Order: sequence, then C-alpha cells, then structure tokens
Amino acid sequence: MTQAIASPIVHDLIGVGFGPSNLALAIALQERGATHGELDVLFLDKQATYSWHGNTLSTQSELQISFLKDLVTLRNPTSPYSFVNYLKHHGRLVDFINLGTFYPCRMEYNDYLRWVAGQFTAQSRYGEEVQFIEPVLHNQQVEALRVISRGSDGQQFVRTTRSVVVSAGGTPRIPEAFKALKGDHRVFHHSQYLSQMARQPCVNNQPMSIAIIGGGQSAAEAFIDLNDSFPSVQVDMILRGSALKPADDSPFVNEVFSPEFTDLVFQQNSVERERLVNEYHNTNYSVVDIDLIERIYGIFYRQKVSGIARHAFRTLTTVESATATANGIELAVRNNATGEVTVRIYDTVVLATGYERQMHRKLLAPLEEYLGEFEVDRNYKLITDERCKAGIYMQGFCQASHGLSDTLLSVLPIRADEIAGSLYEHGKQRGHSRSVAELLLATAS
Ligand SMILES: Cc1cc2nc3c(=O)[nH]c(=O)nc-3n(C[C@H](O)[C@H](O)[C@H](O)COP(=O)(O)OP(=O)(O)OC[C@H]3O[C@@H](n4cnc5c(N)ncnc54)[C@H](O)[C@@H]3O)c2cc1C
Ligand SMILES: NC(=O)c1ccc[n+]([C@@H]2O[C@H](COP(=O)([O-])OP(=O)(O)OC[C@H]3O[C@@H](n4cnc5c(N)ncnc54)[C@H](OP(=O)(O)O)[C@@H]3O)[C@@H](O)[C@H]2O)c1
Repeated sequence: MTQAIASPIVHDLIGVGFGPSNLALAIALQERGATHGELDVLFLDKQATYSWHGNTLSTQSELQISFLKDLVTLRNPTSPYSFVNYLKHHGRLVDFINLGTFYPCRMEYNDYLRWVAGQFTAQSRYGEEVQFIEPVLHNQQVEALRVISRGSDGQQFVRTTRSVVVSAGGTPRIPEAFKALKGDHRVFHHSQYLSQMARQPCVNNQPMSIAIIGGGQSAAEAFIDLNDSFPSVQVDMILRGSALKPADDSPFVNEVFSPEFTDLVFQQNSVERERLVNEYHNTNYSVVDIDLIERIYGIFYRQKVSGIARHAFRTLTTVESATATANGIELAVRNNATGEVTVRIYDTVVLATGYERQMHRKLLAPLEEYLGEFEVDRNYKLITDERCKAGIYMQGFCQASHGLSDTLLSVLPIRADEIAGSLYEHGKQRGHSRSVAELLLATAS
C-alpha cells in the first residue's frame, strides 16, 4: 500500500466539497481577506473537475431560482463574480436580456459556476474524496483537525487545519426495495441520469420500457427528457402520491427564502422550527414546476387524442419489491387505492427518489464525543463541548435550525459572509501564531 502524503501546512480552513456553497464562501473570504488579512484556505472535491449536478443537466432543465440569487449579488451586487458579469465576459449579456427570463438553463448556470471555480484553482483540489475528519489532540483538547482524503488512484492525503466547513451536499436516497440491486446498471438514481442513459440501448433507437420512481422535479425532468430525446422509449411514471403537485413559488411564500426568514426560523424553538419547515415543504420537496406539469399533462392528453398509449402514469402506487432477472427488472407494485399487487417488468428503472443529508455524520464520526446532537449556532458553527477548540461549520445540513434555504442556492452570499465573519472571529480568539502551528504539527505527526 502506498504511504499517505501528509502535508506540513496547518490550514486555517479546509472545505469539504467545492459546490456552490463553498464557492460562495471562497468569494466571501477573498473579499474579507482584502481588509482583514488572508486566511489559508483549501477546498477538496471528489469530482474530477468542477460540475454542478452534472449528470442531471438535461437540455430542458432550468434553474429554479432567479439568477439574481447567484453566488454574490445579494451581498455585493458589484462583485466581479456575478452571473451578469459572467454573461458579459462570455459576450451573451444582450442576448440573455432578450431572452427575458430570470431562469437560465442549468447547463448555463453550471458553466457560470465553473467559470467562478476556475478563478479559485489555487485554493481547490479535485479528485479527492474526504473520508474522515479526526481530532488532533493536545492536553486532551481538540487543538486542530486532521482531514483524511483519498484520490481516485487510491492515494491517501492527510492535512491539518484549524477549522473545517462540511458542504458535501446530499446523497442519493435509495428506497429499501432497490438496495439489493446496487451495481446493476439497469437501476440507477437520477443523480447519474445522463451517464447511465448514454449506455442504454435506446441511444441506438432500440425499444425500451423504463420506470421512473418518484413524483418530484427530478422525476418530471427525467420524464420530459425520455419523451423528447428517446422516441423508442416507453415510460411508466410510478408515484406514491395521487398527482404531480406544483411547487409553490408565489411571491409571499417565496419570502421564506429570504435571509430575514433564516433569522426568524433560527429564533424559534425546535417544535416551531419544524412546523415552519413542514408548512413550506411544498415549495421544494415532492413538487414540480407548474410549466413542467402542464407539459406532461399535455403529452398524456395527446396520447388520448391519438389513441396510442405510449407512456403510463401510475399514481397511488408503491413498489413492494424489485428483482433483477435476465429479462429485466421485475417490480411488484401495489395500487394503494385497491390493494391490488401486479408484477411489471422494465428494462431500466430511474430512481428519482430525492436525497438524504447524512454525510456530515459519517465524515465527523471520529469527533463524535465532542459534538452532541450536531446543533449549530446562528453562523453554522457546530456547538461542541469545551474541549474542542477547532471550528466545525456545516452548510446544507442545517435545514432543521435555519429553514428550507439551507439546501438551496437562496441565501448563499449571506450565509457565506456569516461563516466568514465567524471564522475570523474564531481565528482572533485562538491566535494564528507560528508556535501554534508548530505545536499542531508536533501532535499530528
Ligand atoms: C438536480 C438538482 C438541481 C437543483 N437545482 C436547484 C436550483 O435550481 N435552485 C436551487 O436553489 N437549488 C437547486 N438544487 C439544490 C442544490 O442543493 C443546490 O443548488 C446546491 O447544489 C447546493 O450546493 P452545495 O455546495 O451545498 O452542494 P452540492 O452542489 O451538492 O456540492 C457538494 C460538493 O461536494 C462534493 N463532495 C461530496 N462529498 C465529498 C467528499 N466526501 N469529499 C470531497 N468532496 C465531496 C461533491 O462532489 C459536490 O461537488 C438542485 C439540486 C439538484 C439535485
Ligand atoms: N431544474 C432544477 O432546478 C431541479 C431539477 C431536479 C431537482 N431539483 C431540486 O432537487 C431537490 C430534490 O428534488 P427531487 O425531485 O430529486 O427529490 P424530491 O423532491 O425529494 O422528490 C422525491 C420523490 O421521490 C419519492 N420517494 C422518496 N422515497 C421514495 C420511496 N422509498 N419509494 C417511492 N417513492 C419515493 C417522493 O415521494 P413522496 O412525495 O411520496 O414522499 C417524491 O415524489 C429539490 O430541491 C428540487 O427542487 C431541481
């Protein structure tokens, strides 16, 4: 086995993931660094290059939030990292204005994010998956953190830092019935949609039957893409609910995605916080953009007119079991209204079943005894016991305390600035002296 590569540097901050959350933080830290002194920051991402949910960027997919809620504008509309400046740099500002939309396609937004990320190459490493974050102990205190990562070639890296920010995003939710089929390329989560579809026989126009499980935005986008891009594919949409339901993005409701609403949620007790998140659940989860619902309805209506029932829409349906056979994936599905169970066979199953937010627990498991219930303060800093002097921040794992914006792009520039402020405060309290760095190195080795 190759030896781990241990860096002698003690970073001020290591970020796990370099998605939009940590990109926004990199910018906020750069801004603050100009007046308060630069921090030594490094972001690690497991992907080979920058990509924002790259396997879901089907041609019809659009951003579900105004481009004005980019990485910076809410905090600093004059920042060079705005979406508008990206358009200007790419010679499309006038054309974009002519489009008359607030909602660019996600392929373009991905390109915008990549353009920003390209300006932070010195602070980022791709192709490294963080495995664990461990305590660096001195006199029974957690003086710093050791970040252990692995490259795609198996090489292990060990780095030391005063603080970490875990911004690793969601992980695919795989329903129980499908867990045993892991590794079968005929069943995949929507997060792998484009790369998995590229290897299906329908690419060569061969007939296929495909089931989509779920009734949220991902399911709806998969349906539209299969319908539009693969004329030889027959799709069954299988959902537990009785209908595709629209995402509420009406203006008063949309105020729940404002920075002020984060304050309001955070100030409540846990029961009220949970009530608020549940009340507005239909802004984000298990819901679909109304335009897309209307398009899908139109497709099914035209089927009725033509009498050719290409696709099926199976509501109130639960998948009881899934079995891999030589002929395809056999699903035993129960109609929840009648109780009837039928067996159907599909060439491929797309699991558009959403995402879980548990990665922080796995990465921070070696620090468990210092962490309690993963509660954070207003600035997204984990509340640890007093033996832990290192700073641990989280983005995207704080919906329960900070509200529905936490997993979205809604308040990125503001949140990033709050974390940046807290990091500088933490650094001031602890001091940045060379001797601290030397002490840490001694304990880390
Ligand atoms: C298909 C899709 C479309 C979406 N569209 C919108 C939208 O239009 N508007 C909106 O507001 N929200 C949208 N969202 C919500 C989404 O969570 C945010 O847009 C945004 O991606 C959150 O940024 P993030 O940096 O927190 O997480 P992510 O974008 O998920 O980034 C996390 C990064 O961490 C990396 N990573 C994970 N684990 C590790 C590890 N162990 N080591 C190293 N790197 C790791 C990943 O490779 C990834 O690059 C969408 C979500 C999905 C799934
Ligand atoms: N264009 C875009 O910007 C875009 C595209 C895709 C996704 N997104 C975003 O990504 C996030 C996630 O969306 P999503 O559609 O992937 O997930 P989601 O909204 O969480 O929806 C998941 C769907 O899967 C179903 N489901 C979950 N577990 C299941 C199980 N065990 N068995 C059967 N069905 C199950 C849910 O059914 P129930 O309702 O019955 O629980 C729901 O219909 C949202 O923020 C969304 O806005 C954005």
